[in-house]
Amino acid sequence: MTQARRRILVTSALPYANGPLHLGHMLEQVQTDIWVRFQRSRGHECYYVCADDAHGTAIMLTAERLGITPEEQIDRIRVEHAKDSADFAISFDNFHSTHSEETRRWSEVIYERLKANEHIAARDITQAYDPEKGLFLADRFIKGTCPNCKTPDQYGDNCEACGATYSPAELIDAVSALSGAKPVERESRHLFFRLPLFADMLREWIDSGSLQGPVANKLREWTDSELQEWDISRDAPYFGFEIPGEPDKYFYVWLDAPVGYMGSFEDFCSRSGVNFDDFWQIGQDTELYHFIGKDIINFHGLFWPAILHSAGLRTPTGVFVHGFLTVNGTKMSKSRGTFVNARHYLEHLDPEYLRYYFAAKLGAGVDDIDLNLEDFVQRVNSDVVGKVVNIASRCSGFLRKGFDNRTSATVSEPALYERFVVTSDDIAKAYEGREFSRAVRLIMELADLANQYIDEHKPWQLVKDPEQSQQVQDVCSTGINCFRMLMIYLQPILPSMAERAAVYLNSTLTWEELPRQLLNHNLAKFKPLMQRVDPKAVKAMIESNQVAEKTTAIDPPAGKAAKTGKSSEAASISIDDFQKVDLRVARIDAAAAVEGADKLLALQLDLGDLGKRQVFSGIKSAYDPESLVGRLTVVVANLAPRKMRFGVSEGMVLAAGEGDTDIFLLSPDSGAQPGMRVT
Ligand code: 2FM
Ligand code: ZN
Repeated sequence: MTQARRRILVTSALPYANGPLHLGHMLEQVQTDIWVRFQRSRGHECYYVCADDAHGTAIMLTAERLGITPEEQIDRIRVEHAKDSADFAISFDNFHSTHSEETRRWSEVIYERLKANEHIAARDITQAYDPEKGLFLADRFIKGTCPNCKTPDQYGDNCEACGATYSPAELIDAVSALSGAKPVERESRHLFFRLPLFADMLREWIDSGSLQGPVANKLREWTDSELQEWDISRDAPYFGFEIPGEPDKYFYVWLDAPVGYMGSFEDFCSRSGVNFDDFWQIGQDTELYHFIGKDIINFHGLFWPAILHSAGLRTPTGVFVHGFLTVNGTKMSKSRGTFVNARHYLEHLDPEYLRYYFAAKLGAGVDDIDLNLEDFVQRVNSDVVGKVVNIASRCSGFLRKGFDNRTSATVSEPALYERFVVTSDDIAKAYEGREFSRAVRLIMELADLANQYIDEHKPWQLVKDPEQSQQVQDVCSTGINCFRMLMIYLQPILPSMAERAAVYLNSTLTWEELPRQLLNHNLAKFKPLMQRVDPKAVKAMIESNQVAEKTTAIDPPAGKAAKTGKSSEAASISIDDFQKVDLRVARIDAAAAVEGADKLLALQLDLGDLGKRQVFSGIKSAYDPESLVGRLTVVVANLAPRKMRFGVSEGMVLAAGEGDTDIFLLSPDSGAQPGMRVT
């Protein structure tokens, strides 16, 4: 069934111009790119734009540290980001920057409209100010001692050790993380977007079917509780756009970031002749989709549609939210070598391996996606190389040797061919619904059928009998036609391999050409289409990425000396002191996140004869609770119980690492039993 030609604009979230792209970014860009390539291969008009998110204090400080201007910093990063994406075959129509005239103009236009509609409020607020640096301090730039558990060196608004949340003003002995100076409180006038006025509009938008179920539910929680006005201004010094009529006040980076979607598209339109208004004015027959990660739902699901609405612009047709990327079951970690930058990956491995693996795992939901490196090698080798490439390499040799690379005049197995064609609707539906793992499954089922067909007809045996020569050509031609259809289906996922296949097949690979068969057709010289993944290359990538780690006790976190790696005579303890510490083997019977605590897991431990214990541990950033169940670890069993906000913690588990994602729970070898003394 042919569908009317749709007109679609698609975006991926704009990466910060403050550091390299990593595989988490690539998960999103690959997901978006597959969808975009699918739409284009179906004949739709589909544009894909992105940009660097270039503003904010962090970028200003990085530039300062590097001794360059913020403009130099963002230009440098933009070149790197664009190259990384291009090398992953991400087919942007434009990769721009939010620090652009287009984004400035649209930010100003939108702000003026909001103001004219009385959707901007102004009032004084009090914030921490660094008198040495001369700037206001966001929470993450303030450090001090936790008011709850008294752990020193805690950032801004929550404690890594006990999970308490507080305001920076409550921190004991707070200092600026930038200068070490004691922050002072200072008032200044800020501008706010009056979000609460949009509660009804947002409810309607959330119910309109533009969002995945769990995302809509999350947003409803916010619209049903009290919406807050949103602070959209920042005081100088700030790297961003000055707010019209408000000297020394700048748009907060998150105000102009999504406007960067418009800026990038407008820049593209100015070069391509595409009509910008068709995609941003209300009432046009066009579609607009944003692909984003689950951490920025509020910006795209509340602020952005409300702002667009107030500014008289169209709201998105859909916001497609994906989960985070984990590697080998845990968050990406520098010391494990699993925090892999896009460039690092490209230095060792073919980007299409990862495109395929992501596709094989991606559904339409918001679940995290795990890149399991063993599975990655196995999956790509067995599916792409072992199934798909195998069909072409098995058949091409016979056609070259016996038939001058020419296919037969007829296809010998119409039923098989028909099966390949009729599956196209299901595959298309899966791509359209971003159920890429389902599309891959359907495609691999077809590849299995083609391989079975070749196995059954055994051209390698037929070729021994000159009377069967025609049959050899027929079987192999059928195989090559099946391969062609598989490559049409896989083209959104494996565009570079599809290009190589198109050269060999001497034929274009578009969806609409699916029913056309290559009969009496000259093939080109067969060249290898994809090498197997070499597990050694994966190992080399991880090893080259690995940074040295230090040992740290995690719960409670090490004091300053341990964190800075410093030690001194005075800090040493006698063997008697050490023997006071009762270290025991414990089995983790259950593990769960703690509501209201960002960093903590509640662990239910079995200490054998010492009974069962509950321990809170700041390891959530590195472990999925489920992955811990059944695992042995080491616990300080005679630590005095500590009362925390969430309950009593009856011990401390030991782990190595720097904290955050670099945490490695200590485990005895198998054979150890719960309750055993650790000496
Ligand atoms: O979270 C981030 O990485 C942001 N730079 C995403 C911005 S998306 C869009 F709104 F610009
Ligand atoms: Zn604390």
